[in-house]
Amino acid sequence: MEHPDNVVLVIFGASGDLTSRKLVPALFSLKCQKLLPSGFAIVGSGRSSFTEDGFREKMRSAILSAHRDRNPDPGMIQEFLKLIYYVTMDSSVAETYSRLREKLDLLNSSKATGYNYIFYMATPPVLYEVISTNLAKAGLADQTAGFRRFIIEKPFGYDLASAQNLTRKLHGLISEKQIYRIDHYLGKETVQNILVTRFANGIFEPLWNRNYIHRVEITSAENIGVEERGGYYDSSGALRDMVQNHLLMMVGLTAMEPPSSLESDAIRNEILKVFQSLQPLQVSDVPKQVLRGQYVESRISGERIPGYRSEKGVSPASRTETYVAMKFYVNNWRWGGVPFYIRTGKRLPVKVTEIVIHFKRTPHHLFQRNEGSGNSNKLIMRIQPDEGMLLNFDMKEPGSGFNTKNVDMDLRYSSLADVRLPAAYERLLFDVMLGDSTLFSRDDVVETAWRFLEPVLDVWKNDPAIKLYGYPAGTWGPDVADNLVDGCGLTWRYPCNNLAEEGEFCEL
Ligand SMILES: NC(=O)c1ccc[n+]([C@@H]2O[C@H](COP(=O)([O-])OP(=O)(O)OC[C@H]3O[C@@H](n4cnc5c(N)ncnc54)[C@H](OP(=O)(O)O)[C@@H]3O)[C@@H](O)[C@H]2O)c1
Repeated sequence: MEHPDNVVLVIFGASGDLTSRKLVPALFSLKCQKLLPSGFAIVGSGRSSFTEDGFREKMRSAILSAHRDRNPDPGMIQEFLKLIYYVTMDSSVAETYSRLREKLDLLNSSKATGYNYIFYMATPPVLYEVISTNLAKAGLADQTAGFRRFIIEKPFGYDLASAQNLTRKLHGLISEKQIYRIDHYLGKETVQNILVTRFANGIFEPLWNRNYIHRVEITSAENIGVEERGGYYDSSGALRDMVQNHLLMMVGLTAMEPPSSLESDAIRNEILKVFQSLQPLQVSDVPKQVLRGQYVESRISGERIPGYRSEKGVSPASRTETYVAMKFYVNNWRWGGVPFYIRTGKRLPVKVTEIVIHFKRTPHHLFQRNEGSGNSNKLIMRIQPDEGMLLNFDMKEPGSGFNTKNVDMDLRYSSLADVRLPAAYERLLFDVMLGDSTLFSRDDVVETAWRFLEPVLDVWKNDPAIKLYGYPAGTWGPDVADNLVDGCGLTWRYPCNNLAEEGEFCEL
């Protein structure tokens, strides 16, 4: 295992939700696995005023909460908290960076961190450019003394123009190699396992093409609503929040050609080629191939579930989508004519992310098919929760005749006793320390994804006739989404039933 060089990690936005729920618990896990370098420090920053001890106490609670199932060793937490520092500063104000610099100079002397810095932008996106500019002004972006890496949280841009603009501004300050755009889905073991499944097993690759695959279906469903993030979500919506990054990345990994090596650019070049092959959506395709919805009030197990428009921070007249379903094609030799269906939504019946490869049926049906049978073979890669792989096929039902039964061969990661799935942020933070950008989005990949979605954003914005479908919270989204899937009687895969007892499918 490679070991990272000594470094200081500076987190902008350290008083926020992401730092407490994900970043610091992930760093604590790295400490427990002895993966942090010997000279290491975390400097949190934000406008909220904390003493260093006060901030450490906040982080202690965050670790205890995030790792409550693992009963972390109090001694280890205490050791870890000694690595944490805090600087109160408004990161939009250039003058405050002298305070940060002083702290970094002190840490360089005491921990021999070699002027290596990683800057994590866990702030509202409007600050990404401002913070980078201020770091550059303070001489903290220049790599002559040590390495300087910038981690940028999602969303990277609001549309194609803003993403290009942000990249241009960053490139005026630092090089692309210094930028690590986080898509935390890529940090998930099961997402990385897509590559291993495809390229480490001789049995799948010969079938992985238009000759044997009928369609590809990718679902990322959440059962919660927008919770405390209504304000952010209402200006974003499911297309920007989920499709542009996580869902398209899964399309990229599922559809890409074998890379020539595991070098970061070799993999990202192949993902880029997939995005470049996406059949462009014309304005007239949007109503036929893209469907949007918004959850409305319902009742589940007698409990009233509020509609999206009643959520905190959301406009009562909002037309922001909380559900998107799309059909599109990857126009290349491997995938020509194979439809890709993707969908994501909030307040669906379960939390599940999965990729379903539907294979073509046999050319001739010899056997009697019983109820529950008669489907094509499916390979299901379950990304979360209940991570694993499931191969679905027909077998003979015991007894007379040749009746068939549809069965699953099911591998769950949780059944592998010796396997602990590291959290996505654990892997990604460790990779940045190593300087490995394989699991981070590159400028051209991000821009190509935005370019593909531009017609959808334009049509939704400019054409008031485009429908927004209401779906009761706890259902699988607008019922008309089934019409997107081609072929008699074919539908999406529904891993469980709708939960809503009351509530109306309607047009909003
Ligand atoms: N939370 C998640 O699960 C999640 C998941 C994926 C991506 N993200 C992305 O991660 C970023 C942070 O999300 P979050 O949920 O942690 O947001 P949050 O809870 O609202 O925290 C934002 C942080 O930014 C700080 N901040 C705001 N203005 C500042 C300024 N002028 N100077 C210094 N600090 C400032 C705030 O601290 P002060 O008020 O103390 O200044 C706060 O610590 C966002 O871009 C979000 O899209 C979050």
